[in-house]
Amino acid sequence: MSAASVLPALTADEVAHGARLEARIRDEIAAAGGCIGFARYMQLALYEPGLGYYSAGARKFGAAGDFITAPEVAPVFSRCLAAQCAEVLQALGGGDVLELGAGSGVMAAEMLAELERRGALPRRYLILDVSADLRERQHATLAAAVPHLLPRVEWLERLPEALDGVVVANEVLDAMPVERFVVRGDRVQSLGVRAQPDRLQACEAEAPAVLADAVRAIGRDTGVAWPEGYTSEVNLGLAGWLQSLAGAVARGVLLFVDYGLPRREYYATERRDGTLLCHFRHRFHDDPFARPGLQDITAWVDFTAVAAAGSAAGLQLAGFATQAHFLIGCGIGEFLADVSDLDVVSRVNLSRQAMVLTLPGEMGERFKAIALTKGYDAPLRGFAVRDLRHTL
Ligand SMILES: C[S@@+](CC[C@H](N)C(=O)[O-])C[C@H]1O[C@@H](n2cnc3c(N)ncnc32)[C@H](O)[C@@H]1O
Repeated sequence: MSAASVLPALTADEVAHGARLEARIRDEIAAAGGCIGFARYMQLALYEPGLGYYSAGARKFGAAGDFITAPEVAPVFSRCLAAQCAEVLQALGGGDVLELGAGSGVMAAEMLAELERRGALPRRYLILDVSADLRERQHATLAAAVPHLLPRVEWLERLPEALDGVVVANEVLDAMPVERFVVRGDRVQSLGVRAQPDRLQACEAEAPAVLADAVRAIGRDTGVAWPEGYTSEVNLGLAGWLQSLAGAVARGVLLFVDYGLPRREYYATERRDGTLLCHFRHRFHDDPFARPGLQDITAWVDFTAVAAAGSAAGLQLAGFATQAHFLIGCGIGEFLADVSDLDVVSRVNLSRQAMVLTLPGEMGERFKAIALTKGYDAPLRGFAVRDLRHTL
């Protein structure tokens, strides 16, 4: 059964929107001679101005959208992140926070409120999102929740220069375009995208050298003999992206939270179909061509690649932990204990949030936090409970 046949039906507007984006993708496939790489497809499907999933009006986050992220489901997540930021800002003697991919703006609002409560407000709270469409929504969220702190918030078009402070990004790495590959004997094939009359479809072609080399390097690194037809993904844009980020920071910490694994587990033989996942109205499936422009497309994060790219960009790997351990280190227990002002419903809600964030069967182990630093060597509380750097 195809993914489309079990997904909720589309409205006429959604059908028209999807058709406009698909026409744009088909034009590009035709111009490229019949096949484009998967990363280019993902870039168009998610970020094509005015048409892509993140760049057009879809609701996306929250109960009425397609998926729920930690800051959407649990404000205490952002408060814990604020506790980590406060520690860094205090050690630096002040500075800025830069949030990448701020989504609906809830994390920014909650973090600013908690930083204020701690007397640790950043000089500026900067937001940079590839999707300009989300800016209005972020502004509205912040204006409703923390209007008096809005003057500190700045939306950027590009990375700043010489930032002192903290860069935070929740579920951004998983939204970056990836290349797909398939192993055929001792060859690496690229799994690109072609157009059939009725739908877009995967197509195999000889992998460009940059992809084949990257996959062979992963094979050498993991020492795994992949079975025939083994399919997975690799983010070839990661190294350049981290290089630019490292160039934007003078002193401070880059903190990424996302779902993913150390490389040896990510590319284990049993994960033979890769990690690509699509979300549409809280259903998930693995067909990236089912609803281009209307569904989210994500891939898990290879955290070993993040650490290696950071190191190549001159950053220090300062911590790697499960989300559960990271949040415990940031003081989620203190938030749970400090409930004297809360009514009974709010207390129950807070405990429920903590369970979703930390239980192994929920987000606690699937999600990880990784910290890269530049010119900063003070300890980071989020990694004090259990640091798994040795697994990368
Ligand atoms: C899955 S959403 C997560 C949103 C939010 N951080 C949250 O946790 O709810 C991914 C976000 O990352 C943004 N994004 C993707 N790639 C980016 C990049 N290279 N730089 C900045 N933002 C990016 C998307 O536009 C989107 O807002």
